[in-house]
Amino acid sequence: MKHWRIDEVAWDRFDPAKVDPELIPLVKAAAMVERNGTDYAIYLNRVFADDPAFSQAADYWAEEEVQHGDALGRWAMLADPTWDYQAAFARYRAGFKLPLDAEASVRGSRTGELIARCMVETGTSSYYSALGEATQEPVLKQICKNIAADEFRHFKLFYDHMRRYLRRENLSLFGRLRVALGRIGESEDDELAYAYHCGNEPPEQDYQHKRCTALYMSRAMAFYRFRHVERGMGMIFKAVGLPPRGRISDFSAKAAWRLLQWRRRRFARVAA
Ligand SMILES: [Fe+2]
Ligand SMILES: [Fe+2]
Repeated sequence: MKHWRIDEVAWDRFDPAKVDPELIPLVKAAAMVERNGTDYAIYLNRVFADDPAFSQAADYWAEEEVQHGDALGRWAMLADPTWDYQAAFARYRAGFKLPLDAEASVRGSRTGELIARCMVETGTSSYYSALGEATQEPVLKQICKNIAADEFRHFKLFYDHMRRYLRRENLSLFGRLRVALGRIGESEDDELAYAYHCGNEPPEQDYQHKRCTALYMSRAMAFYRFRHVERGMGMIFKAVGLPPRGRISDFSAKAAWRLLQWRRRRFARVAA
């Protein structure tokens, strides 16, 4: 069912001279979060327990996310042969837990859950597009291109199921916006910051949310271009049921781009 396999990546084309050292910590952190996809599938299977079509799709989805983690982890070990992907992930898993015992979505409805998933896939599709375009290293370029294509498909998967539940649950535009903005705000929660810590800092160093968020975000935000924000904004608008192209979407993309620049400078100051 996968659209590509790890052994199809041209690993022998890896070129250490073309590795941008700024990208390595980002790839290590991303590998942790992606590899954790199986836990999220357990949660989704509980929330959508009586929906076998979605549960099956969620299991395939998780397999692809795990493959993202494994591909990024393997690349990071080529770029930094001292790094141990499995050991770093074991630390992450031991310290970061999703609410696996949930009986219903933490978003208040299944429509809300699926909108939150659309926000995550919007973020990941933009992120891997940005990293893939920025890197000159051919293997990472290929991996990011493959992953970004998966993330765009994941958006569509969750979007299509969301439309089905929206007809049933009738979540208002305000309710949809609230979930979407809430999930976007969570990008600065522990999931990524702790992944940065486990992927990049020695076990004896204490985890500090503020420092790790700043180190991760100041690096990550530098790779975005306006086109990534513009396309992402269109996807956010589509997911909440607003016109993805038009004046409000354009204005929001420009505002988000300015906000991103401002936040990046602020994170860089904290990181320094
Ligand atoms: Fe992914
Ligand atoms: Fe995804």
